[in-house]
Amino acid sequence: MKRLKVLTIFGTRPEAIKMAPLIKKMEKHKDIESIVCVTAQHREMLDMVLKIFDITPNHDLNIMKHGQSISDITVAVLKGLEEVLIKEKPDIVLVHGDTSTTFVGALAAFYQKIKVGHVEAGLRSGNIYSPYPEEMNRSLTSKLANIHFAPTKENYNNLVKEGIEGKDIYITGNTVIDALLQVINDDYAFQNDLLNHIDFNAKKVIVMTCHRRENWGVPMSNIFNGVAEVANTNKDVEVIFPVHLNPQIGKLADEILGNISSVHLIEPLEYEAFANLLNRAYLIITDSGGIQEEAPSLGKPILVLRTETERPEAVAAGTVKVVGVEKQSIVNEIENLLTNKDAYNTMATATNPYGDGRACDRIIEALLDR
Ligand code: UD1
Ligand code: UDP
Repeated sequence: MKRLKVLTIFGTRPEAIKMAPLIKKMEKHKDIESIVCVTAQHREMLDMVLKIFDITPNHDLNIMKHGQSISDITVAVLKGLEEVLIKEKPDIVLVHGDTSTTFVGALAAFYQKIKVGHVEAGLRSGNIYSPYPEEMNRSLTSKLANIHFAPTKENYNNLVKEGIEGKDIYITGNTVIDALLQVINDDYAFQNDLLNHIDFNAKKVIVMTCHRRENWGVPMSNIFNGVAEVANTNKDVEVIFPVHLNPQIGKLADEILGNISSVHLIEPLEYEAFANLLNRAYLIITDSGGIQEEAPSLGKPILVLRTETERPEAVAAGTVKVVGVEKQSIVNEIENLLTNKDAYNTMATATNPYGDGRACDRIIEALLDR
């Protein structure tokens, strides 16, 4: 039997983390020929993931430029993929999630009349400017895709509401849980000096990340000022903030948080270290998508630094709370979880609405089935 030729395209850290376990499984599958093309929309943050999961791409478009605009990414990826798709002629292209690489990867495949499978399909906030440009990227990708791998029933319903036929949608769980289960280890030893010296029992460790485009400017200043206030007034708190490499973020973080001794602005951590840091944290505050999916299964309360989320499942389960981007509400919500044991315990229950770690098996089964 001819093997199914699958070309997986991704470019940023979260896509890499969530596609890595699928690629590893496809590489080993006797009925699949797995080809990987990275756009390298991210460079260092992508390479960190490729290294830890031991993935060597067949094609690397190497497009990242410092300070790149969305149009820069779009143009470079579209043109770069044309050649790869013509050369490889895969049976199907897989894209993941909602970045510019995702949408443009699907568009490039459509231009070559190659089928598209969309992993992590069907998430919707309902607001095209938040998250921006991700809500539009994923909606357009749904329009371009032939097979949709929806993490949850809710995601499935969103797609059906948009007119996509149920027979083309597979509910798989989120592949991030497959990835997470591979790296979480209670005995994990950090390689990082700072993390090795933090007493996770004596201190209340808050892990934070913040990078979304719609938070740039005033919302991000509000968030950082709120964290500064919490750190300055709670001596038992340590904040660990692996800062996204986008210079927009590092500059503001340095200005507002750089001189507070209990706030640690560090380089992005490789995935295994970061996941195990989440596992030891007291509280997580973030505007990241992926972290909202990972942290609930670790039993950690998560405050989402946004005005909405396309991941309502963990909000319904009680582990995630959307707290907005106003300084005072952020301070109040963090203080509440630092001091109110009942409120903390109610949120710190391990629930995992995002799957059982077998999403990749289901995706492979569906691909071969069709
Ligand atoms: C991108 C995605 C966003 C996703 C996020 C995950 C788009 C438009 N945005 O946002 O959906 O949530 O990735 O992190 O698709 N940089 C580096 N090294 C890196 C990565 C980034 O130096 O490894 C710097 C570069 O200066 C780059 C800038 O960060 O130009 C922005 O990167 P970009 O991919 O355009 O946007 P993100 O904010 O990372
Ligand atoms: N992550 C990581 N190192 C870090 C911070 C985050 O490996 O220093 C992981 C995190 O566990 C999650 C993913 O990166 O799986 C989230 O990526 P990001 O926040 O950049 O993007 P988003 O999920 O918001 O699109």
